[in-house]
Amino acid sequence: MMNIAVFCSGNGTNLQAIINAVKSRKLKSVKIALVVSDNPGAYALARAKKAGIKTLVVERSQFAAKSDFEKQIIGSLKKENVRLIVLAGFMRIIGEDILREYKGKILNIHPALLPSFKGAHGIKDAFDYGVKATGVTVHLVDDKMDHGPIILQEAIPVKGNDTLESLESRIHKVEHKLYYKAIDLLVKGRIKIRGRKIGII
Ligand code: GRF
Repeated sequence: MMNIAVFCSGNGTNLQAIINAVKSRKLKSVKIALVVSDNPGAYALARAKKAGIKTLVVERSQFAAKSDFEKQIIGSLKKENVRLIVLAGFMRIIGEDILREYKGKILNIHPALLPSFKGAHGIKDAFDYGVKATGVTVHLVDDKMDHGPIILQEAIPVKGNDTLESLESRIHKVEHKLYYKAIDLLVKGRIKIRGRKIGII
């Protein structure tokens, strides 16, 4: 059994998809030991509580330095024996303390085909740019935003009659089926990292 923590700042639909995958045993040998949020108002916290998962709220504004904020989080992760961090709409850049402690053990999901359209508005930026295809990327986290080696990626065509809302909804559906698959690969030790390239065995 691998204990994981899911970090969220908002709605938490990706968290919900992971909770559902664990419950339905599509994702086995995983326990969501903690949900961490930097936002006390995040709906993700209500989802976690409903599922009986422990939660931790840590607000960045309560700490003078980022390092103190991260050390507080690391303390709770250690206490829960967390071995993998899953970022699911966590709107903060992971700093050097957490990166050092969980090197190669942090996943992120981004709603665009990286390296295009990094940042907080990947769906809208791709839509406004007029791309004919965008998608979803699950990657390992390194010290640059939306940058680490790619585990899974799925392209999604943009249709002529798409609105931002219709595109968003298709992208979220793909996110919800892709993320737990990437977690499953990692938990099963099926990921081999060679530089930027990830092989799946
Ligand atoms: C998702 O689109 C994810 O790719 C991005 O933030 C969004 C989070 O949505 N990083 P939710 O909170 O999981 O509903």
